[in-house]
Amino acid sequence: MPVELTIEHVNLTGQGVGKDAEGNLYFVEGALPGDRVLAQPESEKGRYRDAALVQVVQPSPERVDSVCPVFGKCGGCDWLDWDYASQVRGKEKMLQHVLGRSNWEPKRFLPSIAAEQPLGYRNRIQLRAEGKKLGFYRKRSHDIVDIENCAVADPRLNEALTQLRGEGPFAQPTKIELAVGDEGKVERLDNSPHAAAGFAQVHSRQNNLLREMVRDIVQRAGAKTVLELFAGNGNLTMGYAEHVERLFAVDSSAPALEAARAAWKGRSQPKAAFLEARVDKRLVRRLPGDFREHYDTLLLDPPRSGTQECLGSFLHDNLKTIVYVSCSPVAFTKDVQCLEAAGFQLEQVQIIDMFPHTRHIEFVSWFSRSA
Ligand SMILES: C[S@@+](CC[C@H](N)C(=O)[O-])C[C@H]1O[C@@H](n2cnc3c(N)ncnc32)[C@H](O)[C@@H]1O
Repeated sequence: MPVELTIEHVNLTGQGVGKDAEGNLYFVEGALPGDRVLAQPESEKGRYRDAALVQVVQPSPERVDSVCPVFGKCGGCDWLDWDYASQVRGKEKMLQHVLGRSNWEPKRFLPSIAAEQPLGYRNRIQLRAEGKKLGFYRKRSHDIVDIENCAVADPRLNEALTQLRGEGPFAQPTKIELAVGDEGKVERLDNSPHAAAGFAQVHSRQNNLLREMVRDIVQRAGAKTVLELFAGNGNLTMGYAEHVERLFAVDSSAPALEAARAAWKGRSQPKAAFLEARVDKRLVRRLPGDFREHYDTLLLDPPRSGTQECLGSFLHDNLKTIVYVSCSPVAFTKDVQCLEAAGFQLEQVQIIDMFPHTRHIEFVSWFSRSA
């Protein structure tokens, strides 16, 4: 039997969450905060139920018309039908909830940095082509949803997509990655492994703001020596480097580090080293002896899986500041569990919205330790 619910908020997987009179919680894909919906329960675990959206009985005032004809079918976006400012507030609520669950209350939860450009922002897309079809995978499927134009992609990528159509039909299943390069030209890679050229943020304008945020924190904290983990191509490094005396940047991706070293070429200050290595509990032993227990700042920007709980191995008595850039609130709270006992306080948290119209949350946090 379908149940009628009012949706109160969204969860980290993008589902709308509503409660029935008995206090059971329902997770409903496609439902938005403020919606009154009819939902069909599909699975049950204690008080928690996944339920399919049957009908929006009374739409939320935050609902808007989607600008994309394949929204709901294509696996790319979660929320083209949710007013953008409300999405960002939804992300704030989610993050506050996850932090609160682990008893972290930052001294300052700063207002989120929403994107000025929430559409047409993606500087990179990964298309799938087979036969006459060219587009993105359907949600939780390898079926291709044909697309003419992607609302969140940079217009130059959409032009390239139109040209690609002329190449079809595609005899073999092909993965086609299109990216706007440094000079604004569209680059194309066919069937390359995931992130073959190293990680790069997809929203260039928001990325510039992220770099500024990290630089400001590093400056404000008076950082002199920085250990940067998950440094990638040096995206954040190049932003703060001129304000410190020494830095050591680590990443496991050879192409990313090659790019970082190339970007660094010609600079003599500050003293800097770039190391290709996995971040794990043994990494500390590979750091130079005069650096190992002396860096005053730890900066980390791990992938969605977090640090796999090795953060504790990078703490020492001279460490004063930790700047953690996270794209996973859950991995973050696991990772930072060790920090409270080590005397660190959560100074500041701020969302920077890197992925408008999706459920993904990116935020910058900063921990300090009193002397
Ligand atoms: C979210 S990206 C951040 C990169 C960079 N800070 C930036 O702003 O572009 C995460 C980085 O972690 C690296 N990485 C993933 N797992 C790793 C591991 N176990 N050890 C070291 N680096 C890893 C990836 O190569 C990638 O460059």
